[in-house]
Amino acid sequence: MRQSEQLEKILVLDFGAQYAHLICRRIRELGVYAELVPFNITPEEIQRKKAKGLVLSGGPMSVYARGAPLPGKEIYGLGLPVLGICYGLQALVHQNGGRVSRSAKKEFGRAFVSVDKSSPLFAGFSEDTTLCWMSHADAAEELPAGFRSIGSSDNSPFAAIALQNQFAVQFHPEVTQTEKGMQVLANFVFGVSGCRKNWTRGVMVEDALDELREKIGPSEKVICALSGGIDSATTAELLSRLIGKRLYCVFVDHGLLRKGEREKIRSIFGKELGQNLIVMDESRIFLSKLKGIRDPEKKRIIIGKQFIASFTKAAEKIGDIKWLAQGTLYTDIIESAAGASKHGAKIKSHHNVGGLPKTLGFKLIEPLKDLYKDEVRAVASELGLPRELVTTHPFPGPGLAVRIIGDVTKEKLKICREASAIVEEELTKSGLYESTWQAYAAVGDDLATGVLGDERKVGHVVTVRIVESKEAMTADWSRVPFSLLESISTRITNEVENVTWVTYAISSKPPSTIEPQ
Ligand code: XMP
Repeated sequence: MRQSEQLEKILVLDFGAQYAHLICRRIRELGVYAELVPFNITPEEIQRKKAKGLVLSGGPMSVYARGAPLPGKEIYGLGLPVLGICYGLQALVHQNGGRVSRSAKKEFGRAFVSVDKSSPLFAGFSEDTTLCWMSHADAAEELPAGFRSIGSSDNSPFAAIALQNQFAVQFHPEVTQTEKGMQVLANFVFGVSGCRKNWTRGVMVEDALDELREKIGPSEKVICALSGGIDSATTAELLSRLIGKRLYCVFVDHGLLRKGEREKIRSIFGKELGQNLIVMDESRIFLSKLKGIRDPEKKRIIIGKQFIASFTKAAEKIGDIKWLAQGTLYTDIIESAAGASKHGAKIKSHHNVGGLPKTLGFKLIEPLKDLYKDEVRAVASELGLPRELVTTHPFPGPGLAVRIIGDVTKEKLKICREASAIVEEELTKSGLYESTWQAYAAVGDDLATGVLGDERKVGHVVTVRIVESKEAMTADWSRVPFSLLESISTRITNEVENVTWVTYAISSKPPSTIEPQ
């Protein structure tokens, strides 16, 4: 059984909000294990999972709409602490004899909420009002018997309500725009539900190992796809500890890698894995399949499929491989719309999720699939992986193909690779590498005029992107010093052939995404 199954935890009932999983993440950030579960989870299952408290997530529907997801009413009678959030508040009100209706005044965005500081939900608040983020068209009109308001805004007399250990808020404590959101969650998790911190690095490692122990038989062989990034390296390290020489790592050079990536893999894993590290140069085949392909989703699917074909080829050579291990993260699954919540929108088919064929020659094993990047970094440093790897910026599986807008040509590949290396080098020199999430240069088909010597020269426009993020679900462009942008720009135009202009991307996610494609 996995460690996480035995831990006391907070269960987050999923009513389909885009940010339902973010609630889990925030609670885990507090050091307490939280799990996203279907909204119609049974009381028996709740007890079996050792829930210390229940959070009812937000959701896109109206509680009174036909087919609206509502939990079994018994959950309110279990005696467990409950925290309803947005739709969760409305479900709690609706199911316990109160009234919810479409509000005359919708509330979207920031709102000041006056709070009752004597409520355990707002323990430690120093001010009477707090800035919150709202997003609702429906509102509670009448509270169920016994409930009272513990927070109100201009538009919502019932922005927060309570009855004993049951609470609900109309605002979203899980988003960073709610100033004291983390404190509200901490008050619920520790103060109201009495949780202890149990989600530690050691537990994360054991949990991932449990997943592997449960699945892999005593003589079964595993092939692991190494990409050069932290996720697959951590997956490989976990496996190596558990099954030693029954692990084979395959590094496929698809010709879309960062500068020096192949050498890095050899130096980090070569010694430990010896003959069991297989480096394949498949660049020709990948690049020929990508020829003329401009649509990013198509690129991802082609790359995902070819990855599997290359692994299959390697596995056949090794023989008798039962499992394919991948470093898939929770965010990969969410963005590919394959998560626990079937309501999330498909943002991008991450190659390791969207590119998989229906019938795979091996069984898939993904020990990190419930984790976010920072949790994987914690696991990696607990395992003692080199700091250089732990802090390395994420790099998408489809590599430079999604940083090249339009056709992937040899010229654009060279520009993208060289210019990205300069961005990373300059960022490292400035001491900002570790505090930024990702930094690279993208290139498309736009050309601009420059002067070289005394001659007119038409060259490519390169876009530098440096972003800050906590988990890649949202991101902000980094306000790096102009002097850094200047040295990046100067070096790129001086050192990378056929580039005349350098621009800086100043769009945040949302509405943009981190990669251009
Ligand atoms: P976006 O561009 O969607 O990216 O904001 C969020 C994070 O995911 C990475 N990314 C990918 N990773 N396969 C991956 O393994 C992919 O197809 C893919 N697309 C984006 C991206 O680099 C960022 O860290």
